[in-house]
This record gives sequence, structure tokens and C-alpha cells, in this order.
Amino acid sequence: MGADKLLIHLNQIFCPIDKGHPLYGAEMSEATIIEDGYIAVKDGKILSVGSGEPPKELICAATEQIDCTGKIATPGLIDSHTHLVYGGSREHEFAKKINGVSYLDILKQGGGILNTVNATRAASYDNLYQKSEKLLDKMIIHGVTTVEAKSGYGLNWEVEKRQLEVVKALNTAHPIDLVSTFMAAHAVPPEYQADREGYITLMIEEMLPKVKAENLAEFCDVFCEEGVFTAAESHQILAAAKALGLKLKIHADEIEPIGGVDVAAALQTTSAEHLMAATDEGIKKMSQSKVIGNLLPGTTFSLMKDTYAPAKKMMAEGMALTLSTDSNPGSCPTANMQFIMQLGCFAMQMTPIQVLNAVTINAAYCVDQATTIGSFDKGKLADITLFDAPNIDYPLYFFATNLVTDVYKNGQLVVK
Ligand code: NIG
Ligand code: FE
Repeated sequence: MGADKLLIHLNQIFCPIDKGHPLYGAEMSEATIIEDGYIAVKDGKILSVGSGEPPKELICAATEQIDCTGKIATPGLIDSHTHLVYGGSREHEFAKKINGVSYLDILKQGGGILNTVNATRAASYDNLYQKSEKLLDKMIIHGVTTVEAKSGYGLNWEVEKRQLEVVKALNTAHPIDLVSTFMAAHAVPPEYQADREGYITLMIEEMLPKVKAENLAEFCDVFCEEGVFTAAESHQILAAAKALGLKLKIHADEIEPIGGVDVAAALQTTSAEHLMAATDEGIKKMSQSKVIGNLLPGTTFSLMKDTYAPAKKMMAEGMALTLSTDSNPGSCPTANMQFIMQLGCFAMQMTPIQVLNAVTINAAYCVDQATTIGSFDKGKLADITLFDAPNIDYPLYFFATNLVTDVYKNGQLVVK
């Protein structure tokens, strides 16, 4: 059976091992690295990978052979936590941040997320669509082929729905695949400041059933944080989402450890995200309940903090980890997944192999897409990222520079 496309003479191919579950703890240091590799693609899917000259049966008259000398390949990078769709931007808060005003204080003063809520409510569908499309264009040139996208800047049904519809439309129109998460529990909106229970009831009784009925999201997420949603409220909202059949994520221990991790363990959420302030006890709980830790070092960097999530401790306790951008206008304005991966090494002392596993196979489990993406197993989508690099360590070591040369999505060349 001939291949449609044959990528040949790759310096190295990073092949994550799909064990049928996320890679936990020491498993994150395992991978197959193929030297002088080839990747055969047929009908948009992976046919085979191997070393040296490809077997003759892979080559037929229609096979396009692509010389990849000087490059390495990884599965398409997966950004498993973003706040993709929003109006406006927040560079006007940057000076405050530089002068030491904290993220939560800016939010208390009516800025932060609430600032972006105002801008998002004022934005038309077309404006949100175009802005998000532009951001996806920036993400894909940095090697990303799948992005998780959360709502949460509408905080009323009309605008939450508009955000989710933008994600749905872009999932079809843009080469990047999108996984949609409903996150109206991102802040209490101004009009409910005196009635937070009313807002929680609105989410549970009206918004969540509509999200489900209109098939607008796969996951539900809650910002469990001091001054935002308590652990009890987060549990209530996520339990309601679970009862409707939605999958769960939680923003936990981002700034203060107020119990989000206990909610994650109790409800067996797919992932707990951020975890900058995770405690030893919290790490044990997540490890025992097999909750994936989704770490966002760009947020630590952008919030100008020096306490990164304790990735090494988490892996030593047997947790499965992934890394993502958290791309959003406040706590992490970036589209560069490579920089996040490099922070995994430079700021959290993960090894290149651990980082590459985090953003491929483990991220695929984090967005519940591991049957189709995250590794080069036969039959998975031919989502392939090529870097200008002599070996797989190099793109982690040579930092803050875009080394991606080509991106294939479903076997099609989408970045050159
Ligand atoms: O993940 N933590 C909550 N949400 C985002 C920040 C959103 C914003 O500041 O606009 C985050 O850090
Ligand atoms: Fe976030």
C-alpha cells in the first residue's frame, strides 16, 4: 500500500508511547526516538514511521516524497488550556502589574477578567471570530494543531453562547482542531455581585442544560480561587455539569490553594489546571485520583511570580502532567507554545522528553482526544510538526525563537 506523502531523512522523530492512558510519573521519561526517520501518510492519517530508507511497498507513482534533511518531527503540539475568544486586550493594566499591583487586586478593582468581560460583551460575533482566527494563525505557526478553548468572558447566556459558537465555527473553518469548554464560572458578573447564588443557579439551571442541548461544549471548567468561586461552589457547578454528561476541568491552586484540588479528586475531573500553589497533600490527592496536572508556566512568568508549579515533585508522586499556554489577555498574553515548553525546562526543570510527552500524548488525554491524536501510532491523524533542529533536545534548549518550519494537519501542509 503506497503512501500519499513520505517525509524522509528526518534527523530524529519523537514518538510518544501511547499506553492507553496518560503517562504517569516516571513514564513521562519514556519515548521512542527514531534516527534518520521517515513518516508515511495516507488519507490524512499516519501509515507508519521508521528509520532509514522507507520500504519499497510504501512508494508508488502517486507518492510525494519530501526531503526533511535538517529537521526533526513531533506529533502536532496540543495546547490544552486557552481562553481563545475575547474582546479587547489589557496592556493598559500592564504598568500596574509592573508596579506590583496583584492580579487579584486588579480584579477586585473591577479590572482584570471583568475588564475583558465588558470588551467581549461589546464585541460582535464577527469581531470575536476575526480576532480568534488571527490568534489561531499565530498559534499554528508555532507548531500547534489542536487547541482547547474556554468561554468565560460573557458571563451571560447571550455572550457565552456567542463565544462557544465562534469556537464551533472556527473548528470547521481553521486547520487547527478546537475542543470547546464552557466556563461561565470564570467570575461573578457585575450585575450579580450582590447575588452570587443567583448566578450559580442561572448557570446550573439555565446555561448548562442549554450548552448540553445545543452541543456547544465537551468540557465544563470553573475558576476555583480566592475571591472568585469557592471550593463548595465549584463542586456544585461541576457536579451539575457532570450529571448532564459534560467532562470536567478545574482551575485549581492558581494563586491560593483553597480546595480546588479536593473538588478535582472528589469528582474525578479529567484535569486540574494551573497548580502553581499546589501543596504536598494536594499533589498526593491528584496522584491517587489520577487527575492530570495541566501546568501553565507562562502564567507564572506573566504574573511575575517566582513560584512555578512543582512539576518535578508532581512527577515524583506519579502524576501525569501536561503544559499549555493559558493564552488570554490578562494572565498570559501569548500564542507561542514553544516558549511555554521551554519554560517547562528552564523554570520547572522538566527534561525535553518529559516536556514533549506533556504537550503531545498527555495533552491528548487532557482534551480526551487520544484515540486520534498525540502520537504517531498507525491510524491516528497525520498532525505533524517539523522543527529546524539537529535533535529533539534542541527546540527546548534554543529558546524564545520560533524553530517550526512546517506543520501538517490531517496530512495537509498548512504551514511552510
Ligand atoms: O487562567 N484564571 C482564570 N482565568 C485566566 C485569566 C483570565 C484573565 O485574566 O482574563 C487564567 O489565568
Ligand atoms: Fe486559565
